[in-house]
Amino acid sequence: MKKLLVAVALAALLLASCGGGAGGKPKIGVAIYKFDDTFMSYVRNAISDNAKDKAELEIVDSQNAQPTQNEQVDAFLSKNMKAIAINPVDRTAAAAIIEKAKAKKTPVVFFNREPLPEDMQSWDKVYYVGAKAEQSGTMQGEIVVEYWKAHPEADKNKDGKIQYIMLKGEPGHQDAELRTQYSIKAVTDAGIEVDKLAEDTAYWDRPKAFDKMKAFLAAYGDKIEVVFCNNDDMALGAIEALKSDGYFDGKKQIAVVGVDATAPALQAVEEGTLLGTVLNDAKNQGKATFDLSYALAKNQDVTKAGWEITDGKYVWVPYQKVTKDNYTQFK
Ligand code: GAL
Ligand code: CA
Repeated sequence: MKKLLVAVALAALLLASCGGGAGGKPKIGVAIYKFDDTFMSYVRNAISDNAKDKAELEIVDSQNAQPTQNEQVDAFLSKNMKAIAINPVDRTAAAAIIEKAKAKKTPVVFFNREPLPEDMQSWDKVYYVGAKAEQSGTMQGEIVVEYWKAHPEADKNKDGKIQYIMLKGEPGHQDAELRTQYSIKAVTDAGIEVDKLAEDTAYWDRPKAFDKMKAFLAAYGDKIEVVFCNNDDMALGAIEALKSDGYFDGKKQIAVVGVDATAPALQAVEEGTLLGTVLNDAKNQGKATFDLSYALAKNQDVTKAGWEITDGKYVWVPYQKVTKDNYTQFK
């Protein structure tokens, strides 16, 4: 009897050490670049909702430090996780992560921060789930174009050009660089000239954006006609600063655009302070990240995981424009 118990215990141990997890659920390690990021908390929740009853997840907070994340990846690999899903702190760190995972034959799904193409090609068990950053920038620009054409009073100095401020996410992030570039491109492609008053990074962060916007208002005041923000948290910070400068009280209006369609941003669209945003579909990005990781963990065919896979490696979740006309659909 005792021997049998020992054997059972040993077998259980062995199973667990193989990343089998309780009740045959595969263990999957998930690292988020930092928990304290509004949009990423939506993605994180979507991943865990989808994992329920199917997999045993270990989700860790990399606290915006790549060295911390590297240690977390090492820990996942030494625990023999069946797959890992990584939201890199620094997307150029993907190369080292792939190398380690490959040595352990542990498939990797990156999400939200896109590794460089050459890194993506370095192993066949590497995937990426995200959204086309250019598309979100273009949509933001189109929202502004539509507004500009319908509101001649928005051109405060009547020079026919848009004097604008750009609040950027962190430098080097594909979403920061491409949203910045493509939002303006959509405006100039529509035949509208622009005049950049200032551009600065606020690292996706609401309080930082508030401070930057305060400084821009002190420097440019009512010369500012449009405020482009790479995400909603920064747009909300900018709106707070604008409010403290007398905007949105019924007399002074200004166009502010963001990206993500977070709950407070939709609220701001309803209140009329945020002109528009772009849905960054956290639900589907989280679901795709989980579905791919799960298929890989179970050694199943990823092409049958329910997502269209482009170039053998990429799942692209589409963005959607959100304005006063349709925001209720996204609540
Ligand atoms: C972007 C999102 C930002 C921020 C960033 C983190 O896609 O728009 O709000 O969450 O990802 O990498
Ligand atoms: Ca003008």
